[in-house]
Amino acid sequence: MDLSATIGNFKFEHPFLNAAGVMCQTAAELDQVLGDDYTGSVVMKSATPSPRPGNPSPRYYELPSGLGTINSMGLPNEGFDYYMDYARQKQTKTNKPIFFSIAGLTHDENLAMLHQLQDSDFDGLVELNLSCPNVPGKPQTAYDFEATQSILTEAFAFFKKPLGVKLPPYFDIVHFDMIAKILNQFPLAFVNTINSVGNGLAIDPDTDTVVIKPKHGFGGLGGPMVKATALANVNALRTRLNPDIKIIGTGGVTKGRDAYNLILAGADLVEIGSQLMVEGLPVFQRVESELAAVMQAKNYQNLTEFRASLKALD
Ligand SMILES: Cc1cc2nc3c(=O)[nH]c(=O)nc-3n(C[C@H](O)[C@H](O)[C@H](O)COP(=O)(O)O)c2cc1C
Repeated sequence: MDLSATIGNFKFEHPFLNAAGVMCQTAAELDQVLGDDYTGSVVMKSATPSPRPGNPSPRYYELPSGLGTINSMGLPNEGFDYYMDYARQKQTKTNKPIFFSIAGLTHDENLAMLHQLQDSDFDGLVELNLSCPNVPGKPQTAYDFEATQSILTEAFAFFKKPLGVKLPPYFDIVHFDMIAKILNQFPLAFVNTINSVGNGLAIDPDTDTVVIKPKHGFGGLGGPMVKATALANVNALRTRLNPDIKIIGTGGVTKGRDAYNLILAGADLVEIGSQLMVEGLPVFQRVESELAAVMQAKNYQNLTEFRASLKALD
């Protein structure tokens, strides 16, 4: 069975990646994901120009009954140069295409990091995380359609390497139409959907308190509780985006059938975040073999045979 996938000229022998922010902050963690026999590659922690310690702990929490996770990490990362050094060192030693995620805290920080990437010999894929603050008092960039249009216009004026965007979930059909209309104006290599479902709240029944410290307990949700939202976003974007914009499906994957569903809805590659936190590296082998079993039962030999073939009811 062939489980390989492509984005542009990049080939992935396995369709699974870690989701940005999970097991990818330090070189030791990145090595583990990159070196695993069942990953297509690694996505590095979203970088800011300088290193950041992130928010005070507890800043990540696993909800009971396998519902999923809530976090407000505050972008802890080792800084742009650290990830640039890591990627440049590894890219000569691996044929897995490395993803460089950037998350500037301002428009100008994003453009500055894109300039550095353009001028470097980094030869992987760049993911611009648009689920980040933009201007105080304004929503995150991807919920500000004007800001999204403007950063992409400025970026593509000089950026010539393969570039994709990481999007938050959208919940309104008009918003799917609006974001797709913007994205379709640009030669994007891929769109990654979804980032965490923003600003959930969980309560500890023993203490009647919130479960994470930053933002009075508000945090991004991941895992099974966001699965239907991720599936809807992949499907809504696949049916609206130009066919040469590939899709990375992220959100709620804990088993092979979840990955199968995302691919059926249009995903080219699939990322695992919360469940990688919960289960660790063995998740990749397990989910891949479960995906292969679903495909075998349906007599599929490769992912293209069923990708984006989800049907509506008559
Ligand atoms: C602890 C943690 C840290 C995260 N950090 C980032 C990040 O730095 N950049 C990013 O684009 N997404 C980040 N995410 C979001 C994930 O990449 C993913 O989009 C989201 O969790 C949904 O996938 P899941 O349901 O498999 O967890 C983070 C998620 C978690 C749980």
